[in-house]
Amino acid sequence: MEPTNAPPAHVAIVMDGNGRWAASRLLPRIVGHKRGIDGLKRIVKACVVRKIQVLTVFAFSSENWNRPADEVSGLMDLMAMALSKEVAQLQQEGVRLYFVGNRAGLSPAIRAGLEQAEARTASNTTLVLNVCFNYGGKWDIANAAAQLAAQGMAITEESMEGAMALSHCAEPDLIIRTGGEHRLSNFLLWQAAYAELYFSPVLWPDFDDAALDAALLEYAVRERRYGKTSAQIHGSFKRAKV
Ligand code: IPE
Ligand code: IPE
Ligand code: MG
Repeated sequence: MEPTNAPPAHVAIVMDGNGRWAASRLLPRIVGHKRGIDGLKRIVKACVVRKIQVLTVFAFSSENWNRPADEVSGLMDLMAMALSKEVAQLQQEGVRLYFVGNRAGLSPAIRAGLEQAEARTASNTTLVLNVCFNYGGKWDIANAAAQLAAQGMAITEESMEGAMALSHCAEPDLIIRTGGEHRLSNFLLWQAAYAELYFSPVLWPDFDDAALDAALLEYAVRERRYGKTSAQIHGSFKRAKV
C-alpha cells in the first residue's frame, strides 16, 4: 500500500518486556532494565535520524510501586545512575529532556537530578524526550483538573489540555507498545484519544531500528479519519442530490 501519512511528529512508547528478556536468559530482572536503558539510547538516536520531533517513553508507572521492593529500588538506582551518566550524551545530541509524572513520590536526590537534567538541556531543539516516571494517565487527568479548580478556572477540553503534563507538545501520533501486551496500562489516557496504536511482540531490549521502522511503515498506511468517512478523507465525497 502507498504511504498516506506524513511521518509522525510525536511517537510515544510503552517500553515493556525487560523482565521477560532477562528471565529468558536466566538473568535477574534488573539486568533487563539495564539493557532497556541501552535500548532507549539507541531509539533516541534513531528518532533523531528520522526527524521525529517528540519521543515520549513510559519508564515507571504509578502502579510499578507494587513490584517487589528490590526491583523498585533497583529501578530508582538505575534512574539515578542514568541521570548522572547519560545526560551529557543527550545534551550533545540536542535532546531536550522533560520528566513527566508525580515528583512528590520520588526521593529528593532523584527530584534534584530530574530538575538539573531539564535545566541543562532546556535550550536543545533537535528532539524533545519526555520520560514518564512515576506517571499514570489517571493521575495526569486528576492533577490537571485539581490545578484548574484551585485557580477557579472552568474545566473545558482546552483548559485541561493546557494544565496537563504534556501541554508542551502536540498529542502523540503513534503509540507503540513493545513486549506483546495489548493494553495501555494507564499511559497517556487523555492524549491517546486519536493516536494510532501499534503493538509489537518484540521485548523492549531487542526493539531496534528495524523494529521501529516496521512501526513507522505501518503508521504510514493507516487512515486517520478523526470521525469522518473514508470518502471524505480521500476527497471523493459528493453531496447527495436532493
Ligand atoms: C518494563 O518492563 C519496564 C518497567 C515496567 C519498569 P517490565 O519490567 O514490565 O518487563 P516484563 O513485562 O515483566 O517482561
Ligand atoms: C507498563 O508496563 C509500564 C511501563 C512500561 C513503565 P507494565 O509491565 O507495568 O504493565 P502491566 O502491569 O503489564 O500492565
Ligand atoms: Mg511489563
